[in-house]
Amino acid sequence: MKKDILTLLDLTKEDIDGLLGRAAGLKKMQKEGVLHRPFEGKTLGLIFDKASTRTRVSFESAMIQLGGTPLFISARDTQIARDEPVRDTARVLSKYLDCLAVRTYSQDLLEELAEFSSIPVINALTDLYHPCQVLSDIMTVMEKKGRYDGIRIAWIGDGNNVAHSWINAAAVLGLDLVLACPKDYHPDGEILKKAIERGAGKINVTEDPLEAAANADVIYTDVWASMGQEGEHKTRKRVFEAYQVNSRIVKHASKDVIVMHCLPAHREEEISEEVLEGPNSVVWDQAENKLHMTKAILEALIGRRAGEPQNSFSDSL
Ligand code: CP
Ligand code: NVA
Repeated sequence: MKKDILTLLDLTKEDIDGLLGRAAGLKKMQKEGVLHRPFEGKTLGLIFDKASTRTRVSFESAMIQLGGTPLFISARDTQIARDEPVRDTARVLSKYLDCLAVRTYSQDLLEELAEFSSIPVINALTDLYHPCQVLSDIMTVMEKKGRYDGIRIAWIGDGNNVAHSWINAAAVLGLDLVLACPKDYHPDGEILKKAIERGAGKINVTEDPLEAAANADVIYTDVWASMGQEGEHKTRKRVFEAYQVNSRIVKHASKDVIVMHCLPAHREEEISEEVLEGPNSVVWDQAENKLHMTKAILEALIGRRAGEPQNSFSDSL
């Protein structure tokens, strides 16, 4: 059975722990110059319908470093843009490729693509979720804090796709997560409800950014207007003003708080230049880990060479 990653709820705690361990191992191997190329002759398709720097380049580099070939497919240059049904595209691409990473608007479209594909499909961001981002972010938390258990994570800003994936991660891993979002910009109620019902995480929503920041070990923010919301930028700038992650907010957190941002950042909007470039910021290491985590994800989904040990995620396929 093929396995997809469409949301973090597709994974168990054991899957995520396996990915975290393997990503750390792959990072070490790369730093030591060990070549690891199990994917000779394998191809990864990347259908991107929205802009990307980090996700696209880390997926392409990951596939090349693993010995395979990435094929970037700009959605507007394919027949998808001329209304070929998603289910037809899925069945045809499955004949050519070994895995498909997709960045698009609609989670439903991604799910239909996955349903009709016989190869693994990875969510590389939709309007609703950004699961691979949060997997690599948890890797960064582990590196900086040594664990994720008992770490207080404060999300400050929009209740958006990245926030939704943090909520799912909290539900699966039992994280302590507090989200400070303005009224009318809370995370999706259904996603929140489902996550809270799982009972594992400590998930709270407030409208007070200082309350969220109090004693936080991790402060995380993201753009106030996501891709597709450019028309709301002016209004959002006004609504979110009090939610800027700046030194005033950081002062309320624990003394060795780390500040995270999935990037791209808008300086002096959701984050001040001083904090982004300051001593608590880990955003560049965070961006690097997207590469290592992507390799672990691809290995788990496409599989390693026969005879090599599999991690728990692959074992469960
Ligand atoms: N963090 C992230 O997904 O960045 P890109 O939009 O550049 O891929
Ligand atoms: N929330 C942002 C994340 C970008 C990586 C967006 O969807 O545009």
